[in-house]
Amino acid sequence: MTQRILLIVSGGIAAYKALELVRLLKRKGIAVRAVLTESAKQFVTPLSLGVLTEDHVYGDMFDLKEEREIGHIQLSREADLIVVAPATANILAKMAGGIADDLATTILLATDKPVLVAPAMNVRMWHHKATQRNLAQLREDGIHLMEPAVGAMACNEWGKGRLPEPAEIAAEIERLLADATVAPQPLLTDTTRTINAPDLSQRNLLGRHVLVTAGPTHEPIDPVRYIANRSSGQQGFAIAAAAAQAGARVTLVAGPVALPTPPGVTRIDVETAREMLAAVESALPADVAIMVAAVADWRVADEAEQKIKKDGSGQPAPLALAENPDILATLGHSAQRPGLLIGFAAETETVVDHAIAKRSRKGADWIVANDVSGDVMGGARNTVHLVTAAGVEDWPEMPKQAVAARLIERIADELAGR
Ligand code: CTP
Repeated sequence: MTQRILLIVSGGIAAYKALELVRLLKRKGIAVRAVLTESAKQFVTPLSLGVLTEDHVYGDMFDLKEEREIGHIQLSREADLIVVAPATANILAKMAGGIADDLATTILLATDKPVLVAPAMNVRMWHHKATQRNLAQLREDGIHLMEPAVGAMACNEWGKGRLPEPAEIAAEIERLLADATVAPQPLLTDTTRTINAPDLSQRNLLGRHVLVTAGPTHEPIDPVRYIANRSSGQQGFAIAAAAAQAGARVTLVAGPVALPTPPGVTRIDVETAREMLAAVESALPADVAIMVAAVADWRVADEAEQKIKKDGSGQPAPLALAENPDILATLGHSAQRPGLLIGFAAETETVVDHAIAKRSRKGADWIVANDVSGDVMGGARNTVHLVTAAGVEDWPEMPKQAVAARLIERIADELAGR
């Protein structure tokens, strides 16, 4: 796969050497996309860099066209390595201080990719305590720093501060790209909290019908009481929303929850497990069914028509329970079984083992297993394991929206591969 560099050129007399660097990298088969700071444009034109990179040259954070078509996050996401060459004392200071006041520095603060810096500045600026303090900070932060060369300066002085030769920078880039020990996300303090949501805008579920159940069910005891559980419906609603975003026709069968209907989703509200089953069956056929609802396993065998009263004996009213239909298992064994049938398994112990057993018992293709011993039910984040015929994938903890987006992307891949 082609390796990609995002080259940030900051303003300095050495900026013209960026052209030579791009030429060398391209010769090595490394793709380069360039970002110019405002002052760099005084030394090298976007046109000349654009001709060499064979790409648009990015510069202005507030160029709406650029932000709409390709945001700064995407610029960094598409690169294997960010290179700042030449890096002025000014951009080093901003990096060390976490300042983001233009496109280049915003990329540098938002990136989770390794960063290589090739400084170039006047010798006095290089030896200034402020610059040395900033360099120490950057080193500590995990930025890869090249030493500037010693020699004659543009300002008729002599000393340390010249940009390393483009060939040396290119060699360092190659070394970092090849070095498996370079941490993939060296600049983040907590990588588990920064999941790249898959891009659902490609609408790769176009033409598919996706059926989702979500929320709890309420099983009435009498006209005023019911059996329920703590499901908030958030995960199921997020999945329905992500499926619609990916272009699918979505039917969402929802138990009693107070959540807004996601855009583009057809919602059927139900209360009990039996109503949910009937709604699911009436929505078939479906290409994919994702049963996220926390369906009550039992209902009261004989729902009282009037409110049950205390009889004064001190004895609680007897409540005979009957088992509810299992919607997932019913679909799993039905003639109209969706091509891809996915269940969720809420467990409080031996999560994966229970999920593996549930997958075969209920005739599902995949089970998304989650540990609900913490505050998952009702909470915004989720840690899940995807159990398929091929094995178990452990996903890191992430927001429920990210679980939804990732699941929908996996579904689209699965359908595309069939
Ligand atoms: N499910 C269902 N109908 C039911 C019960 C569960 O469709 N009556 C579905 C859920 O939507 C979920 C999966 O089955 O996709 C697993 O739900 P879970 O409550 O974890 O499983 P249970 O069947 O209750 O199994 P157990 O009691 O052994 O945990």
